[in-house]
Amino acid sequence: MSPETIQSPEAIQLDVAFLPSDLEETDVAVVVDVLRATSTITQALASGYRAVHCAPSIEAARELSAPGRLLAGEQHCLPVPGFDLGNSPAALARGEVGGTELVLATTNGTPAIVAAAQRAELVLMGCLLNLDALLAAIPSGVSVTVVCSGTDGRFALEDAYVAGRIVGRLAGEPSDAARAAICVAGAYPGAIGPLTDSADGQKLQSTGQEADIAWCAQESVLDLVPRVTSDGADAPVVGAPPPESVPTGQSNSQSLMNKVVSPTCMF
Ligand code: MLT
Repeated sequence: MSPETIQSPEAIQLDVAFLPSDLEETDVAVVVDVLRATSTITQALASGYRAVHCAPSIEAARELSAPGRLLAGEQHCLPVPGFDLGNSPAALARGEVGGTELVLATTNGTPAIVAAAQRAELVLMGCLLNLDALLAAIPSGVSVTVVCSGTDGRFALEDAYVAGRIVGRLAGEPSDAARAAICVAGAYPGAIGPLTDSADGQKLQSTGQEADIAWCAQESVLDLVPRVTSDGADAPVVGAPPPESVPTGQSNSQSLMNKVVSPTCMF
């Protein structure tokens, strides 16, 4: 982004796409699928995988199979038959790293990453595990859209909550959707409530995977920010390049200190 395009904070658009289909052109897209794809990607890179290939479908993931790559993902929240791993960040954190790269296919999260990579210059992965690191990595002076992955094409409470936690700490002019997300975040004293109450959270509980809810509700315990590093022909490749190899600029949240958006919400 050239210095001429830097705008005053009031002119900077902060938006939330509650579904990937709502996403319009933006400078920075932050994709959120807190239960569980973006939490899994963040955990996978923190656990030692070098890259995650985000496949738009299970079939596409199988085609990306190669030596050194493990296939991971879910279908109806359960591990895909024949894949090496499911979509559990808690299991990834416990397990041995069995390959150098993951190929991940999930129902909503990885398709959202594919959609974001087509519309934004910079695509970051957001979740609660890396919240502070993410906020520090979002450049200032550019439009930012948090893209919620949703659940089967519908609004997802847990993603809206995390979107509100993110945009509420950024400088700029919030859209109506961003204000609504901030209201959702403000309605809960902590993350475990919306993650547990959500349809995805209930599905995880009903399939014995509640440990992932607690895992994904942890805040700012990982200091890395996954980003799309190459388009990878329909399956964007996500990595976490070390901070010195990422172009620097003042972070949006650092410039914010005195300007936290807090609309009054009553539920
Ligand atoms: C998704 O992409 O829909 C998910 O991450 C679902 C899951 O993990 O069960």
